[in-house]
Amino acid sequence: MCSHTCHIVSLKEKNLHMAHQNVDLSKELLNSQAHVWNHIFSFINSMSLKCAVELQIPDIIDRHGSPMLLSELVEALGLNHERTQFVYRLMRILVNSGFFVKQCVSAPGENDEEEGGVGYLLTPSSRLLLNDEPLSVRPFLLAMLDPITLNPWQNLSKWFQNDDINPFYTTHERMVWDVAGHEPKLNRFFNEAMANDSRLVTSVILKDCRDVFEGLDSIVDVGGGTGTVAKAIAESFPDIMCINFDLPRVVNGLVGSKNLSYVGGDMFETIPNAHAVMLKWILHDWSDKECIKLLKQCKESIPSKENGGKLIIIDMVVKDHTSNNLLETQLFFDMLMMTLLTGRERSEKEWAKLFFDSGFSSYKITPILGLRSLIEVYP
Ligand SMILES: C[S@@+](CC[C@H](N)C(=O)[O-])C[C@H]1O[C@@H](n2cnc3c(N)ncnc32)[C@H](O)[C@@H]1O
Repeated sequence: MCSHTCHIVSLKEKNLHMAHQNVDLSKELLNSQAHVWNHIFSFINSMSLKCAVELQIPDIIDRHGSPMLLSELVEALGLNHERTQFVYRLMRILVNSGFFVKQCVSAPGENDEEEGGVGYLLTPSSRLLLNDEPLSVRPFLLAMLDPITLNPWQNLSKWFQNDDINPFYTTHERMVWDVAGHEPKLNRFFNEAMANDSRLVTSVILKDCRDVFEGLDSIVDVGGGTGTVAKAIAESFPDIMCINFDLPRVVNGLVGSKNLSYVGGDMFETIPNAHAVMLKWILHDWSDKECIKLLKQCKESIPSKENGGKLIIIDMVVKDHTSNNLLETQLFFDMLMMTLLTGRERSEKEWAKLFFDSGFSSYKITPILGLRSLIEVYP
């Protein structure tokens, strides 16, 4: 009798256990499905943001100067009233992703579910998308989400199976730098993006790391784009002769000053001599082999360590222990380098190997630029 009861209890327990297992399994399956959905649709975040930027929504809300009602936004956008519910839905996802906030401006009106008496305001992130903001990330967004830059992502798997240099080449049969020269709009977005980023970076290093430039009598910014960094150093240190060096098509026609000059050329062929070489966001564009060639070229254009020669590099140092979000952004950039160029984002160990393989003797990393670091490298 006892054994029979025990048998019944254990069977019940077993069924209960199985039921729990089934619940856990379904929960896990549903979570996994949501996880996959989220990744399938991550591009909707980028595209919604691009849409808002193209419609100049951040600028319109900024000009309004106070919480902006949906109806006011639709009117300022010059859209047909029928578009209101679509603008509402676009704004809803952008509020959810932290680009706008809602603030009550009046009691919610009846039959006014979408407006609800709330107005939209900018957040610090959407302030960085304003048109006339000197540090604006708007041109970078428009460059990275341009079809020319986006299409190669469709060919990522195809590229793994062919011998092309990168998915950009698989798509356009040319390298990024050649295409940029023939696409004025993309080229403008790209150069503005670099200039705006340089403004942010130089504002930090010229405030917090002035000692990096003390004692230098000249510096060449290799791949310096249109010269934002060189210009800022030249203004901040009138005794340093600054050279902004980039491809001829980038620097042609640019006018220097007393201690700033523009030189066009190919950095893999020759680099103007200077006390120090700056490489901001350059080395991550290139493969290890190309970097070693470039670093050796840089070494030839600076004096010895004893005479103060050095490289000043600004790039990412990938760390496994950064927070998940920061690591994800570094991994995004790494995939970007793989897809558009031949480069990569590097760990400290990978950087050290590059420096020593190129004949440099030591380096110092100062992680003062958020996701990026300032790296001084000595001959
Ligand atoms: C990612 S951008 C960085 C621009 C700038 N250093 C900055 O961070 O704002 C790379 C730069 O390298 C330049 N570049 C590419 N190939 C080059 C070459 N062979 N010689 C000189 N500059 C080159 C590009 O024109 C572009 O301005």
